[in-house]
Amino acid sequence: MFQISPGGFFLGGRPLRLLSGALHYFRVLPEQWPHRLRMLRAMGLNTVETYVPWNLHEPRPGEYDFTGLADLDRFLHATRKAGLHAIVRPSPYICAEWENGGLPWWLLADREVRALRCRDPAYLAHVDSWFDRLIPIVATHQVTRGGNVLMVQIENEYGSFGTDTRYLEHLAAGLRARGIDVPLFTSDGPDDFFLTGGTVPGQPATVNFGSRAAEAFRTLHRLRPDDPAMCMEFWCGWFDHWGAEHAVRDPEDAARALEEILAAGASVNVYMAHGGTNFSTWAGANTEDPATGQRYVPTVTSYDYDAPIDERGGVTDKFLAFRAVLKGYADVPLPDPLPPAPLLPVSSVELNQSVRLLDALDEVAGAAVWAPQPPSFEELGIGHGLVLYTSRIPGPRGPYPLTLQGLADRAHVFLDGRPAGVLERDATEAVDGVAVVGAHARLELLVESMGRVNYGMGLGDRKGVGKVLHTQQMLHGWTARAVELGHGTPDRLTWGTAGEGPGPVFHRGFLDVEEPADGYLALPGWSKGYVWVNGFCLGRYWEERGPQRTLYLPWPLLREGRNDIVVLELDGCARPVVQLRDSPDLG
Ligand code: GLA
Repeated sequence: MFQISPGGFFLGGRPLRLLSGALHYFRVLPEQWPHRLRMLRAMGLNTVETYVPWNLHEPRPGEYDFTGLADLDRFLHATRKAGLHAIVRPSPYICAEWENGGLPWWLLADREVRALRCRDPAYLAHVDSWFDRLIPIVATHQVTRGGNVLMVQIENEYGSFGTDTRYLEHLAAGLRARGIDVPLFTSDGPDDFFLTGGTVPGQPATVNFGSRAAEAFRTLHRLRPDDPAMCMEFWCGWFDHWGAEHAVRDPEDAARALEEILAAGASVNVYMAHGGTNFSTWAGANTEDPATGQRYVPTVTSYDYDAPIDERGGVTDKFLAFRAVLKGYADVPLPDPLPPAPLLPVSSVELNQSVRLLDALDEVAGAAVWAPQPPSFEELGIGHGLVLYTSRIPGPRGPYPLTLQGLADRAHVFLDGRPAGVLERDATEAVDGVAVVGAHARLELLVESMGRVNYGMGLGDRKGVGKVLHTQQMLHGWTARAVELGHGTPDRLTWGTAGEGPGPVFHRGFLDVEEPADGYLALPGWSKGYVWVNGFCLGRYWEERGPQRTLYLPWPLLREGRNDIVVLELDGCARPVVQLRDSPDLG
């Protein structure tokens, strides 16, 4: 069927050059998959590659979701219908700027799991039961069973992380035992330590890079003389962090790098061909120093990636430049690109209903949990969102600094119900001059999680706060209430008009639509928070920091008539009005 040999890739005995593009089904709404897949073909690709994010599919241990955006089976059917071959890179770990690199947060709550991504028995037991569920779905789509899946990845860039080859062998054997009979492979950076740490004897290796193809393939060939040349991730763009510059790559420069790969006779997977969106709370984070896991930088909501097919599915200059290159290597005439969906008329929506988060705790928060030290999000059984921690500082005393050790990731501090500052991981972690006049002061910390680190030694990023100190003294005795943020959170609220008071506010208003179409939501004058449209969480915004200043609003979320827009503003806004625009502002 499909074979990998030193001479290259062969399908049914005939040579096949893989001209692949990455498109993650979980970053695009299912109604839009056919359009995006057709765009891949129009660019000149013959294959689509996707990861599988374990944490999206198994939100709680043993609770599985393969519906809607998570319908992998439907996606693979769509790829075949679009006339594309498919490459699947299943979990356990995917990196991908995705929360925790795809590993479920609840692995961090299991005290038996001592280490991730190695032969830790408790970790492997979770992986094995997940594979029991996942792998049969992938197996039915293999080319050996009449489907279009040509090859399956074992782990993701394992050489960037560790050296437990027998862990990789366990995964490979697990794929085989559950019915994968197409070739397996690994992918790693083109350097000796990546390739000697991340590869598996007897399984082909591929390399990931953004430029200097000849050099990368020389390294691959030197260390792995029997493997054909394939760039499994050709980074034609890049992703953004909050507070940093928007990354762009010149289309002509990217097209030259693509040409260099193909001129070397190699196969390629363009990462990303179409990036899509980190909806809801799924954006991951990096650390500026992956080797120590220090200096946390969270990833933005858009995963446009400066990819050739933009976030809305439109043609870019990079698309045209890549099409011109790929045309020269295609063995069939390329179909024409399709136009993206129409745009909604530009307008403004006033969100004139509101409710304060601290007044709505009984509707949106879990029960109060008591502990001597602040429990982590994981201990509270919450994946993503906010936790309100409450304690007391004895008095009279002070003024002294109040320090939050191990804050992940951002906290609003309230003293006796009054705002006393906003603290941030790796930046400001103390409020100075905190005095207690009476017998005690009530201390509240509203902690927000911003996405778990997905790459390097920061992986396994627990959320919450470690120790809270007033001067040198630890504060004991905490109650914690968790507010899970995700799809559907605002459905539980009772709306009115929030009066004066501290803390975040939910705002609601209505958008009237004649016919569902695409749009971009802008929040000028707002600060930081989350947006929902008809209960679907579009993701985070951080207007005050950027670089991203509009959120892509895909048409399938809208309905004819009245649509409901909810914003949870954490820091306060000038006027609760959101704008509907007709072009993106990614910075
Ligand atoms: C690596 C990972 C991908 C992604 C890219 C950067 O190559 O394998 O999942 O994180 O980096 O976008």
